[in-house]
Amino acid sequence: MAQRSDEHLKVLIRNGALQRRIREMARQVERDFKGERVHLIGVLKGACIFLSDLIRNFQSTDVSIDFMAVASYGKGKESSGQVRLYKDLDTSIEGLNVILVEDILDTGLTLNYLCRVLKQRRPRSLRIAALLDKPSRRIQEVKADYVGFKIPNEFVVGYGLDYAERYRNLKDVCILTLPPQ
Ligand code: IMP
Ligand code: MG
Repeated sequence: MAQRSDEHLKVLIRNGALQRRIREMARQVERDFKGERVHLIGVLKGACIFLSDLIRNFQSTDVSIDFMAVASYGKGKESSGQVRLYKDLDTSIEGLNVILVEDILDTGLTLNYLCRVLKQRRPRSLRIAALLDKPSRRIQEVKADYVGFKIPNEFVVGYGLDYAERYRNLKDVCILTLPPQ
């Protein structure tokens, strides 16, 4: 793994626990939508691994996927507070049961922005699935309908989440500590 010698990683959630929880989340979605089609929108890039494990756990539901790319973080650990849309959806979501799939709900700025944009496009329903939730960091109120794990206020990487584009490949979610600046 491309770990820099001055950066420290500590496992927070092992892959096995992630997989078990994601299976439960998929079941819950299937119960809620009972045979109706759902359209998952992955928020790139962080949610790509979560989304790909989530869809493989759907057994009875007809699912389609699309992606949006946004960034609010720049290169470091702190949010810039501004959300930029880099890639829009390929197809219309009008009349669809949409589930926005996010890696982590932190300040809430990203999901708040995305929900506002997507509601204007008249989906039949709009829900949020976030693998991780840091409730203590919230600036804008957002309620996720499906949450994998509530976590403390620590910067985490792995399983899709990055620090300056690194560590997305880790199988576990890990806490990253950097040397004092
Ligand atoms: P929010 O807009 O502050 O809710 O932040 C959401 C986005 O910030 C996520 O999609 C992540 O890309 C990024 N983010 C927030 N917290 C972390 C973290 O602990 N590690 C890595 N990325 C994070
Ligand atoms: Mg992200």
